[in-house]
Amino acid sequence: MRKLLVDTDTASDDAVALILALRSSLVEVVAITAVAGNVPVEQGAQNALYTVELCGADVPVHVGAAKPLTRELESATWFHGMDGLSDCGYKVTHRTVDPLPAVEAIVANALANPGLELITLGPLTNLALAIRQQPTIVKNISRCVVMGGAACTEGNVTPAAEFNIWVDPEAAREVFLSGLPIEMVGWELSRQDAALDEHDIAAVQELDTPLARFAIGCNGRAREAYLEQTGERGISLPDPIAMAVMLEPELVLESSQHYVDIETRSALTRGMTVVDRLNVSGDARNEREWSEVHARAKKVKVCWKLDVDRWKRALMEALSR
Ligand code: RIB
Ligand code: CA
Repeated sequence: MRKLLVDTDTASDDAVALILALRSSLVEVVAITAVAGNVPVEQGAQNALYTVELCGADVPVHVGAAKPLTRELESATWFHGMDGLSDCGYKVTHRTVDPLPAVEAIVANALANPGLELITLGPLTNLALAIRQQPTIVKNISRCVVMGGAACTEGNVTPAAEFNIWVDPEAAREVFLSGLPIEMVGWELSRQDAALDEHDIAAVQELDTPLARFAIGCNGRAREAYLEQTGERGISLPDPIAMAVMLEPELVLESSQHYVDIETRSALTRGMTVVDRLNVSGDARNEREWSEVHARAKKVKVCWKLDVDRWKRALMEALSR
C-alpha cells in the first residue's frame, strides 16, 4: 500500500484535499502535519482534526511551525475566513493533536517508510526544518508533490508569487534545492475551467452527503474571495487538485522537467518560482546565478496541463460516500 504524509495549513481547500486522501483506497495516510499559513498553526491543526473526524478516519495530526523560518506569518484569513473554514462554527468533538511535533513526525515517518510519498499544501516551513534535522530523509521520499508557485505566470499574492511560496520563500528555496523529487502543481492549474462552476457546485450539493455539504460550506468565503481576487466565478481548489495529482499522476496531461529556483532577496519578486522552462540556466552567461541550483537540486516535474474532467470526477467520487 502506498504511504502518504500530508503537510497542510488546513483551511477550506486543504480540508477538501484531506477528504480526497482520507477517502482514497490508493493510499494510506500515515500522518497529517500542520503548518502556519492560511491560519495560525493551532487553528489549522483543529481544522485538520475536524476533517479527519468527519471522514471517520484514524490519522494522527501533528502541530508544526507557528511561523516561517525567518519572517513573520502573513495569514490568508481574508480569503478563507478567520477560522479558515468560512467561520461556519465547525467544531472538533473528541480528537486531539498528537504530542509528537510535526517536524519530528515527518522525520520519523520518512525514516520508517522508505518510499514515502509526501504532499505539501501550505508553506514549506515544516519540510525545510525536517530536512535540516535529518537530511537523509530526502533519499527515503519517493515523491514530493508541492501545491505551490506559479509556473511562468502571475501569482495570487503579488504579480510574481503564489501564497505558499511567498509566505516562506527561504523554506521553499531550501526544499527546492534539497534534492527531493518535486512535482510542482502551481496555482494556475486551479483556475478557469478547473475551478468548480455553478453547475459543478450544484452537482456536489445534489450528492447531499455530510462531506459534500462540508466541502461547499467551508469554501463559502473562498468562493467570494476568489471573485474579488481574480474576477473569476466559482470555487478554486488548488490543494485538492494537487492531491488528485498525488493520487492519480496520470491526471497531468502535460509536464516537463526544469530547474526551479525561488527568489528570497527581492521585495518585488519575493517567493517567485523561477522556472527554467527553456533550460538556459546551464548557459555560461547564467552560470553564476544558477550554479548552486545545479549543484544541489534535482530538476522539478513542472505540471502544465490537467485532465480537468477526470479531476472533477475524482472529487465527486470522494464526496459521494
Ligand atoms: O495559493 C493557494 C494555496 O495557498 C493553497 O494551498 C491555499 O490553501 C493556500 O495555502
Ligand atoms: Ca493550503
